[in-house]
Formats: sequence, structure tokens, C-alpha cells
Amino acid sequence: MSEETERDVVRGLKDVAAAETRISYVNPSGSLYYVGYNIDDLVGRIYYAEVAYLFLYRRLPNQRELDKFSSDLVSQMVLPSEVIESIRSTPKTCHPMDVLRTEVSHLGEFDPEGGSQTMNANMRRAIRLIAQVPTIVATLYRSRNDLPVPRPKDDYTFVENFLHMFKGTAPDREETKVLHRLMILHADHGFNASTFAARVTASTNSDMYSAVTSAIGTLKGPLHGGAGEKVMEMLDDIDMEEHVEEYIQGLLDDNKKIMGFGHRVYRAEDPRTKHLRGIVENLCHRQRTMSLYNKCVKIEKRVHDRKSIYPNVDFYAAVAMDALGVPKEFFTPFFCCSRVSGWAAHTIEQYEDAVLLRPSSKYVGEFGRPFVPIEER
Ligand code: ACO
Repeated sequence: MSEETERDVVRGLKDVAAAETRISYVNPSGSLYYVGYNIDDLVGRIYYAEVAYLFLYRRLPNQRELDKFSSDLVSQMVLPSEVIESIRSTPKTCHPMDVLRTEVSHLGEFDPEGGSQTMNANMRRAIRLIAQVPTIVATLYRSRNDLPVPRPKDDYTFVENFLHMFKGTAPDREETKVLHRLMILHADHGFNASTFAARVTASTNSDMYSAVTSAIGTLKGPLHGGAGEKVMEMLDDIDMEEHVEEYIQGLLDDNKKIMGFGHRVYRAEDPRTKHLRGIVENLCHRQRTMSLYNKCVKIEKRVHDRKSIYPNVDFYAAVAMDALGVPKEFFTPFFCCSRVSGWAAHTIEQYEDAVLLRPSSKYVGEFGRPFVPIEER
């Protein structure tokens, strides 16, 4: 038989290195690097826009560069009117991720640089996408609630503008800090499924909108970015902290996955968790919802005792977004609002690598079946 029937299958592509990257490194023993910087050295000390800049230019900006980059982002936040209309006309019953996936693809129709695939055009396109994905999310949320969308303001930073457009109120200092942290921690994560999907699309020399659209469709799944929404459903289902043990026991007895737990790469705690657990505790304290935080801690302990697995980024991120007033069906779209910077940087890196990503498969079907004409079947 041919080679295709004899090769070994690496199920789930586990531990297969499909390309080189300089953007981020996920260390199985529990650390995460962005372009060489340990995230522990960045979180709480930089703005999300600095991380987006770092991914695109592979170095941190100085103050002048950051100011220019941030004002470029803010100036690009306005969507084409056709995209706004399209968002407003979507059925209220469809999931926000379906709308985001469609409207990012829609943005491609209005790209001012048409099909240009030069490096400079792609860098500008990346900035537009990083700026406009949050506006799509805010526009959808506001229109679903029959509320107007505030226009971006020059005296607000990019993240403040996002918060302002979503909530309609002047950005609160504490909430802005939380959103920066969430966006920084969600911005990139090695060759995760959605990033890989973006890179596969980019590897055919297709355009960046197509790559990001592929990524959004992939992030949507509950085994990936869709887990956060399921975490909140679980937390809502557990009516009081005293019922945590019984609830978790029930799920494990039924061989169900606990959402927001486990990870393909990390064999230790996800290094993003510690940066979120503390802010969730503070938020719950501030909002007098400590029983929610206590529930989380109990779930964490129970799952670890039973399965020796740790929470991943989605577990405490879900509670942080809930505390920001984000409805659970908007958790994954919020995730996209910053992961788009990672996807765009990976798309550009894939163009530079200039190799078609096309794996093989092991054929396990039949050979030599006798053909039967349709009238005899
Ligand atoms: N709940 C219960 N058991 C789990 C969980 C979980 N969340 N995660 C892993 N396990 C168990 C598996 O049942 C398996 O046990 P076994 O060896 O006794 O059969 C073992 O741990 C290994 O798990 P796999 O599923 O083989 O690990 P894999 O690397 O394929 O899966 C994944 C990783 C998909 C993230 C998995 O942990 C999971 O489904 N988690 C829940 C969904 C989730 O939170 N996804 C978000 C991931 S982070 C992100 O994408 C942003």
C-alpha cells in the first residue's frame, strides 16, 4: 500500500511542532512568554495596546510610539456603515459569535487596500482589525439592547473606548484595569486551535480577514474559547457554595468535562490563572458577591483533588467578565477582542514563512470496491 496508509497518526496533533514562531511560548511547566517576555513581568505593568504593538513589531514601544499606535487604533474604531447596518439586522436569537464571525468577514469587503498583500498593507490591516473587532462586539451588544453606540473619543485610550462603547458610561478606573488585564492575558497563546486555523488559512496566501474568520469559528467551540460561557452556566447552576462538591461529583461520575479546567499543554497551573484569581477576589469583594468567589475556590479544590487538573484561563476570566457586566454569551466575543492581535501577528508571521500548511492523513478506508452503476444499486 501507499505511504498514506502506513504512517503513524499523531492524534490531535499533540506535541507536533507545525512551524516556528517568535510571538509566544507556552511552557508546559507553567509559564507563558510574549515575544521573549514572561507575562508575569508584563501583567499589571503595561497596557493592552503595548502587547498588540509587541506582537506586530516584536519589540515594546517607547512612549511616543505607544501614543501614536493607540491613537491610530482609536481612529480606526469606526465601522463601515454597511457593517453597522448588518449587525443591527441580525436576529436577536443568534449567538454573538455567529455575528462576529460574519461581520469580520464582511469587513473584508470594505478594506481600503483591496487585495494588496504587501507587508505594509497587512500591518495596517492588522491595526484595523485589532481596532474594529471590539467595535463590532460593542455595536452588537448595544443594538441588541436598543441602545445607541457612543462614538470613539480621542481623549480615551483604546481600552477605555472599548469599555465606553460597550457600557455607554465613562470608563471606570478599576474596570479599565481589569479589562486591560483580561485583554493582555487573552492576547496570544502559542499554536492553540484558533491560531493554527488562522495560520492554515494564511498559509494558502489567503487574506487576513479570511484567516481571522477561520480563527473566530474555531475559538467559538466549548473546548476552546467557548468554555468561559459554559463556566458561567455551571456557576449559575450551583445555587450555593455548599452544593459544589455534590455538583462536581455528579459531573465527574457522568464522565463529563468540567468547563474551564484542564489544558492540552500545561502540566502545571495555567500561568494566567494567578493573575485573574486575585482580581476576581477583589471584584467579588467590591461587589459583595464573595459567595461566587468562594464557589470558584471550592470547585478548584474539588476538581484538583479528584482529577489533578487545574483551572485554565477561562475559569476566572468568566467571573471577571461577569463582574464587568458582560453577559455570558458575550464572553467569547470579548476573548476575540484581544486574541485578534495574536491572530493578526501569526497571520503575518505565516506569510513570512511562506509554506503551505497541509498535513497528511492515514487512510483507513477500503480499496478495490467493485463499482455498481446507479440503476443496479
Ligand atoms: N474535566 C474533567 N476531566 C478532564 C478535563 C476537564 N475539564 N480536562 C481533562 N480531563 C481529563 C480527561 O478526561 C482525561 O482523563 P483520562 O486520562 O482519565 O481519560 C485527561 O484529563 C486528559 O484529558 P484530555 O481530554 O485528553 O486532554 P486534552 O489535551 O485533549 O484536552 C482540553 C484539553 C480540551 C482543554 C480539556 O482539558 C477540556 O475539554 N477542558 C474543558 C474545556 C475547556 O475548559 N476548554 C478551554 C481550554 S483553554 C482555551 O482554549 C482558551
